[in-house]
Amino acid sequence: MRKHIVAGNWKMNTTVPEGVELAKAVVAKSAEVPSDVELIIATPFTHLYPVNEVVKGTRVALSAENCADKAKGAYTGEVSVDMLKSTGCEYTILGHSERRQYYGETDEKLVEKTKLALAAGLKVILCVGENLEEREAGKHFDVCNAQTVNVLKNFSAEDMKNVVIAYEPVWAIGTGKTATSEQAEEIHAYIRKVLADMFGAGVADDVTILYGGSCKPSNAKELFAQPDIDGGLIGGAALKAEDFIGIALSF
Ligand code: 13P
Repeated sequence: MRKHIVAGNWKMNTTVPEGVELAKAVVAKSAEVPSDVELIIATPFTHLYPVNEVVKGTRVALSAENCADKAKGAYTGEVSVDMLKSTGCEYTILGHSERRQYYGETDEKLVEKTKLALAAGLKVILCVGENLEEREAGKHFDVCNAQTVNVLKNFSAEDMKNVVIAYEPVWAIGTGKTATSEQAEEIHAYIRKVLADMFGAGVADDVTILYGGSCKPSNAKELFAQPDIDGGLIGGAALKAEDFIGIALSF
């Protein structure tokens, strides 16, 4: 059976001391959350090592927000998967729409990053999702299909045990405009069908697919009640421990 996951993506927010305090607050409240819900916090690179000191040995797992598409060497400013692994982190987010939109992240680069991450023993949270223009043109299924297939066609059913997918419609991110539970479920079920065609129904059934985009305590329950929505990737609301845990209590 697939896991329920609530993951917080801190994006480029908090200083290191603020991040350490936020992580402590999340850990302190985490006992309230049923044990079958996995909690993950994804922090900026600078925070990973000190935040790991806070979360290690607790039920809160640590994630990076990105990784380099090269293993090591003369790539100034980049952070490799081995570096991430050495901080104690277990996951990395890849392909977030903000990276696709502002930093030229392509599906080709995501293939390289995913290969490196999985080989290093990191689990990957792969983000897909259409922008407003694509949604209005009725292209949302095609966009999600292409983003999913272009990357995952390079991986095996075995690899999929370490891949989580996050469907994040770009028009819902940070806008306060959540996809309705019907809109989200429709795409989640579609992505699961795409995975079933690629890897078989058994594998597709075991992949955790998260929803992201203005998810908050007030709307999480309805979203998480949908059969193919297995949790959330949370931006703004993950910056307050109370809201983040409130979302995790919505299963
Ligand atoms: P918001 O929850 O702030 O809309 O962000 C969602 C997101 O991008 C998580 O990765």
